[in-house]
Amino acid sequence: MGPDITEPLTLKCGLVLPNRLVKAAMAEGLADKGHLPGERISRVYSEWAKGGWGALLTGNIQVDVQHLGGYGDLATRSNQADEPQLLDPWKQYAEACQEHGTPAIAQICHPGRQSPRGAGERGIFGQTIAPNAIPLNMGDGVAASIVRNIVFGCPRAMSKSDISHIVGQFVNCARVLAQCGFSGIEIHAAHGYLLCMFPISHHPMPGIVNRNVDTAQFLSLGSNDRQDEYGGNPERRARIVIEIIQQIRKEVPANFCIGIKLNSADHNASEFEDTMTQIQCFYNAGVDFLEISGGNYEDPTMMGRGVREEPNKPKSQSTAAREAFFLDFAAQTRKRFPDITLLLTGGFRTREGIEAALKGGVCDFVGIGRPAVLRPDFLRLMMDPAYTNQEASVVFSKVPVPLVARLLQIKSLGGGAETEYFRGQIHRLADGLSTFAP
Ligand SMILES: Cc1cc2nc3c(=O)[nH]c(=O)nc-3n(C[C@H](O)[C@H](O)[C@H](O)COP(=O)(O)O)c2cc1C
Repeated sequence: MGPDITEPLTLKCGLVLPNRLVKAAMAEGLADKGHLPGERISRVYSEWAKGGWGALLTGNIQVDVQHLGGYGDLATRSNQADEPQLLDPWKQYAEACQEHGTPAIAQICHPGRQSPRGAGERGIFGQTIAPNAIPLNMGDGVAASIVRNIVFGCPRAMSKSDISHIVGQFVNCARVLAQCGFSGIEIHAAHGYLLCMFPISHHPMPGIVNRNVDTAQFLSLGSNDRQDEYGGNPERRARIVIEIIQQIRKEVPANFCIGIKLNSADHNASEFEDTMTQIQCFYNAGVDFLEISGGNYEDPTMMGRGVREEPNKPKSQSTAAREAFFLDFAAQTRKRFPDITLLLTGGFRTREGIEAALKGGVCDFVGIGRPAVLRPDFLRLMMDPAYTNQEASVVFSKVPVPLVARLLQIKSLGGGAETEYFRGQIHRLADGLSTFAP
């Protein structure tokens, strides 16, 4: 029998989370000038800090100011550690997150080929970078290719010196954040960002047909045809991430937590075993927790988009399975790695669903994204016995996909609309306003 929501969790590094629910990473788009945190983002996190969460995972913080995932992303600079005036905003941000004792874990990221033109300081014509020069596939139509070319272009294949530079940028970012008071970092190696492309291929959940995955796209994401030590077998594809974990560990205090967010793989797919091998590598490298998610710009399954239930399969069997997008993969991972601390994110809306996943032993803690925006006090709603199970739920409709996206067959816009809506709500929190469900 697994833990209760209220039970504290001690991570391998010694960091204690007071309970089992964490606010998931959601890019806020609230950076001030210079990609620094300011008052608006601190106001949002002050609101979440009051919520009593087990931890607050920040939205992604980019490790390279030249390559941002979105125009309002926060980013660190390589000279940051030596410039006190550049550290103060980060200190204030960490303090706002942790003012009521909730640990803040900063998600750190490089967007790779998912960096739109103009996002970052590389200039409008600066190319994105990726393991191979393979552009995004945003949909089947000509319009999707045109949009892709305008917005992202084709990435440049990274050289070995690019790789070691990027490893250094991740380490620098983690060092700066540790210095400024964060309790840990999470390496974002999911959702199609740079590191995701090295180790993990994306695949839809079992029992679910993904309308959007075509073979070519799947192969292009799954294959890493680098000929050097960063390509080839699963261990070699995981190498950049292993180097990042090991080098960060040397630079931060022993009780500073290092987590990683990965995409799931279908149990029946050939990539499943590769993924398991890579998880073993990350575990050996010393991660404190593994967060399971899925999807990318091409197939935003992390938002519950692009999936439908198979018509001849019975409706989901368990309460947890009805909610959690990636429950099956979490269960498979748990079976193989009983000692890894697992965080499962995506789809949880009710106390019953969360308790079923925790008590069923599928994961050790649960990440809450959109419901945390609608109800910053979501944790209290779940934990307070004064609310019945029926009341302890935050259920809402999907954000409609814009007509133009459907007409132009641009798949990513479904997830994009969802993200934009909720980012707008985060901005309302920044302005001291209440939020609304779609
Ligand atoms: C506005 C918004 C921004 C997001 N930004 C990030 C991000 O920066 N990093 C990340 O790992 N996931 C990000 N996500 C995905 C969430 O962490 C989470 O996986 C997803 O929302 C599914 O969980 P939910 O069903 O509880 O919302 C974002 C989601 C939303 C809605």
